[in-house]
Amino acid sequence: MTDTTAVQVAPEAVETNKGHEGAQIIISLQQKGGAGKTTMLCCLAGAMARDGAKILFLDTEAGFPAAAWCEDLDDENVDCIEITSEEQLPATVEQYQDHYDAILIDTAGWDSRMASYAIGEAHLILIPCKSSKKDSIQAVKTYFHAKTATKNHKKAPEIVINLWGLKKYTNVAERTRVEMAEAKMPVLPYTMPALTGFEQMDWAGGMPQGAAAAAFQQWLGAMQNEHHLVYYDRGPLSQKTTEVA
Ligand SMILES: Nc1ncnc2c1ncn2[C@@H]1O[C@H](COP(=O)(O)OP(=O)(O)OP(=O)(O)O)[C@@H](O)[C@H]1O
Ligand SMILES: [Mg+2]
Repeated sequence: MTDTTAVQVAPEAVETNKGHEGAQIIISLQQKGGAGKTTMLCCLAGAMARDGAKILFLDTEAGFPAAAWCEDLDDENVDCIEITSEEQLPATVEQYQDHYDAILIDTAGWDSRMASYAIGEAHLILIPCKSSKKDSIQAVKTYFHAKTATKNHKKAPEIVINLWGLKKYTNVAERTRVEMAEAKMPVLPYTMPALTGFEQMDWAGGMPQGAAAAAFQQWLGAMQNEHHLVYYDRGPLSQKTTEVA
């Protein structure tokens, strides 16, 4: 995807997606803590699994919150592995990439060797950005870090900034939008509002409920419309199943 304002569909993105033969590798990345990386990726895993995709979730975050969430979700279409060393990450991707429709990697920011390995594997990098100055600054930094880190890759990954958890109708939300547009960031044309249903997931596990469920479905629709998710363009990769110990 080019780094124009991102409210347009990038035709290259479709081309990129069509090039994947195995699993699409989707990572969350944002240096600012608490931006929504884990929440966004867990919801994506659950939604794609519900839609029939085989998902492998690789949790690289200390404490493995996503792994705990996956276990609690108990969906046969979602497997999860806790990644404890950098070297384990590419080896695991290589081992399983022909057996899943998507491999999702949750990171804890870009400033670690683990995150560098994740960036090295990525076809799609999702950067969540809440409505704060710190989030905005770090989203832009994360974007340029990812761009630089992947500039010699044969196929550049798509990078998408997600305005995530914005408090509706506030100046700070508007300011975040303006900052992203001025910095020419590739922003998904759907803004995820701040909703209690996502916070409720911390307690209850599972998928978001109520207004958060509806909002997430709209986010998923925007991702599909922009052809960011290979599974929805290509369908299931294969009928193979893989048991993860
Ligand atoms: N759209 C949303 N609306 C309201 N709260 C949200 C939303 N998305 C995430 N949250 C909440 O924000 C908090 C941080 O989210 P999350 O843990 O996903 O961020 P993170 O980027 O993974 O954080 P870390 O850097 O610690 O890994 C959580 O309590 C979560 O429930
Ligand atoms: Mg997290």
